[in-house]
Amino acid sequence: MKRILTGDRPTGRLHLGHYVGSLKNRVKLQHDYETFIMLADVQAMTDNFEHPEKLEENIRQVVLDYLSVGIDPKVSTIFIQSKIPEIAELTVFYMNLVTLARLQRNPTVKDEMKQKGFGANVPLGFLAYPVSQAADITFLKADLVPVGVDQIPMIEQTREIVRKFNELYGHVLIEPEALVGEVERLPGTDGKSKMSKSLGNVINLSDDSATVKKKVMSMYTDPNRIHGDEPGKVDGNPVFTYLDAFAGESYKSQVISYKEKYEKGTIKDVEVKEFLVQVLEEFLEPIRKRRAEFEAQPDLIDKILKEGTEKARKEAQETLNLVKHAMKIDYF
Ligand code: TRP
Repeated sequence: MKRILTGDRPTGRLHLGHYVGSLKNRVKLQHDYETFIMLADVQAMTDNFEHPEKLEENIRQVVLDYLSVGIDPKVSTIFIQSKIPEIAELTVFYMNLVTLARLQRNPTVKDEMKQKGFGANVPLGFLAYPVSQAADITFLKADLVPVGVDQIPMIEQTREIVRKFNELYGHVLIEPEALVGEVERLPGTDGKSKMSKSLGNVINLSDDSATVKKKVMSMYTDPNRIHGDEPGKVDGNPVFTYLDAFAGESYKSQVISYKEKYEKGTIKDVEVKEFLVQVLEEFLEPIRKRRAEFEAQPDLIDKILKEGTEKARKEAQETLNLVKHAMKIDYF
């Protein structure tokens, strides 16, 4: 069976953008691929090293997010990055295979550096996190990495490292492929191009009904439409993007008719938003229910993490042995 490895930084709860970008694919593919999902706490430290205390609680919350959307711990292995020290070892070896200039050209790293305002004072750990991500993916010999579009440059960089390693030391590592969601990028509730915790424009998978309603009712729509009787734009209007992403089969014809009316100017923003609230509630309600069931079993989460980490660790030790053998540093 081919393998999936993917993961998230446990810096907060997961949101609708995570769902469409990656979680949906993970749930769908977990029976066709041997699936490993990593809580990237070491990577989270690269921009949260002043607040390591945030990680423990967020690890639990993200695991609850996974379970509540339908990740089945019987078939998917969930583990914690910092508990796999072999990843750090691999990272050190891979560092030699990447140039500083190449890291500085990584478009996602570039964007994040700008967003965080590091200026000339970029922490080395931050700049190098794509190398550590290559170690995450390759220690498991993953074939497929379901991720959001912003992660494509990381997978590309991983592939380069793999090619370089295999060329130098022999064919040991697997070149992975990225898989992005059908809806590649969900805009924020404020209309910004990306739903992102740091921008404060997210709807979390664990938000309650009142919160979802409040966030949707204050969503950004077509900025040029002032009155409900004016024709409005559907393309690029986040309310319609969400409808396209979350309306199930039974709502499809209604979505089409709402779009037509919106473009003609015969429906108000508030009516479309009320419809979106209904659609999102239908999507989120079963997720909330499953979350509550798992929240009531904190020991189960510990067990999932412990067993998952043990399983991943064995894989890591095996890969590291192969890597050291290939590099001719398995002295005795
Ligand atoms: N960089 C990913 C994010 O910010 C998290 C991550 C860490 C990851 N290691 C990974 C994703 C390995 C896929 C594969 O969301």
